[in-house]
Amino acid sequence: MTVADIDATIPNNVDLAGDRRLQRALESWQPRFIEWWKELGPVAFQDNDVYLRTAIAVGQEGWANFGYVKMPDYRWGIFLADPEADRRVGFGDHRGDPVWQEVPGEYRADLRRLVVVQGDTEPASVEQQRALCLTAPSLYDLRNLFQVNVEEGRHLWAMVYLLHRYFGRDGRDEADEMLERHSGDEDNPRILGAFNEPTPDWLSFFFFTYFTDRDGKFQLASLRESGFDPLSRTCDFMLKEEAYHMFVGATGVGRVVQRTVELMKGHDTDDIRPYGGIDLATLQRYLNFHYSVSLDLFGAETSTNAANYYAAGLKGRFQEGKRDDDHRLQTASRTVPYVAGGHVGEREATALAALNETLRDDYIADCRKGVDRWNRALADVDRELVLPHVGFNRAVGEFAAHRLSPDGQLLTDDEWSTGVSAWLPTDEDRTHVESLMVGVDEPGKMAGWMAAPSTGIHQKPVDYEYVRG
Ligand SMILES: [Fe+2]
Ligand SMILES: [Fe+2]
Repeated sequence: MTVADIDATIPNNVDLAGDRRLQRALESWQPRFIEWWKELGPVAFQDNDVYLRTAIAVGQEGWANFGYVKMPDYRWGIFLADPEADRRVGFGDHRGDPVWQEVPGEYRADLRRLVVVQGDTEPASVEQQRALCLTAPSLYDLRNLFQVNVEEGRHLWAMVYLLHRYFGRDGRDEADEMLERHSGDEDNPRILGAFNEPTPDWLSFFFFTYFTDRDGKFQLASLRESGFDPLSRTCDFMLKEEAYHMFVGATGVGRVVQRTVELMKGHDTDDIRPYGGIDLATLQRYLNFHYSVSLDLFGAETSTNAANYYAAGLKGRFQEGKRDDDHRLQTASRTVPYVAGGHVGEREATALAALNETLRDDYIADCRKGVDRWNRALADVDRELVLPHVGFNRAVGEFAAHRLSPDGQLLTDDEWSTGVSAWLPTDEDRTHVESLMVGVDEPGKMAGWMAAPSTGIHQKPVDYEYVRG
C-alpha cells in the first residue's frame, strides 16, 4: 500500500512525487482547475469558511478530515483504493487473467472514452448547481451542497489523473477539454443530456442527487469491476463519496415529504401551497422528470458498445462477483422492452447486447427503496409517490419515438399534450417552487417547505454554524 502524501501540492496516495513528469503535468492543470472552480463553481460563499470533509486516506478506519475550509483552498486529492492482491479479471473473454496495471493497446480508445464520459459528468453537476447557494433552505443544506460540489470536483481530479497517467498526449488533451465543455453551453455542451439541464431550485437538487447521482453510483460500480485495475481502484474510492450524495438526495426529499405531510394534516387539505408547502402532485411531477431523464443515462436497451466493453473486461455488471452465472454471457439471453403494433411488449436479446438494460433494471430496483421509505411517511395521509413506467418521457432508446403515460399506456400526440401538465412540472409548479426559494442563513433555522434533519453532520448539532464568515 502506498502511504498517502497529504501535504503535497496535490494530496495523493499514488506516489506522485515518484513521477516528476506526471506531477508537473498535473501541477500545471491544477491552476486551471481552480480558475474553473472560481468561475463556474458556486456563485457565492467562495471566501466563507465551510465545515467540509476532506479525503486524506482510503482505509476502513476512516478516510476523511472534517474542518472549516474556504472552498478554493479545498485539498482536492488523488486517492485510489488499496490494491487487491492477485486480483483477476472477473468477467468477459479475459476472465481469470491477472488484471492490467497499464492500458492494453487494443482497448485504449474504449477505456479513454469510458473515463472521459464519466469524468465529464463531475464538473457538469457543479456547473448545474452553482446558483443554488443563494437560496439554501438552511446552513446545514448549504454545507451539504458544497460538500457534494467539492467531491464532484475531486471526482474530476480522479478521472484527470487516469487520463494524464495512462493515456499520454490524448489523455492530457481530454483533461483540458473537461474544463472547456460547460453545462448547457450551446457550442460546447457536456457530453450527456441530463448534465446540460439546469438545476434551478433545491427541490430539483434533491431529486437530482437522488436519481442522477444514483446513475453515477451504478456507472462507477460497473467500472469498479474493470480489468483495468487503476480504474477499478479509482471508482471504488469514488463510490464512498457518492454514497453521501445519495444520502443528501434521499434525506432531502424525505424532509420535504415530511413537511408536506405535516401541512396536509395540519390544514386538512391537499392544497398546501397557500401554507408555503410543496403539494404532493408537484413532488410527483418533479420525481417523474428527474427519474425519466436519469433512465436515459443508461443508454439504449441494446448496445454493441456495452457488449464490447463487457467482453473486453472493461466494464462489468453491478456487483458482478455476486452473480451466479458464467460471467461471460456468450450464450445467455433476456428480454428487453419493445414497442410494436401499438403495444408495449418485449423481445429477446442476447444478455451481452442487453447489458445497459440490465444495469437500468438494477438502478430501478435501487431507486424504489427510497421511494418506499418516503411512502412510509406518506402512509399517514394515505398517499404515495410512485416511479413512472420505464417508457415514460424517454429520449433515448426504444421509447424515444413513443409517448407513454406514467402508468405505461401508449398515447397519441394529442393524448400526451392533454395529459402532460399532470405528469411533468408545469411553469406554475416551477414558479411556486421558485417562490419558496429564499436563503435561510441563521444556524438551525429551516425554510418552511422542508423539515429539519434528524441529526447534524459529523456529530455536530443541527444548529451548528456549518457555513460562517
Ligand atoms: Fe461524482
Ligand atoms: Fe455525485
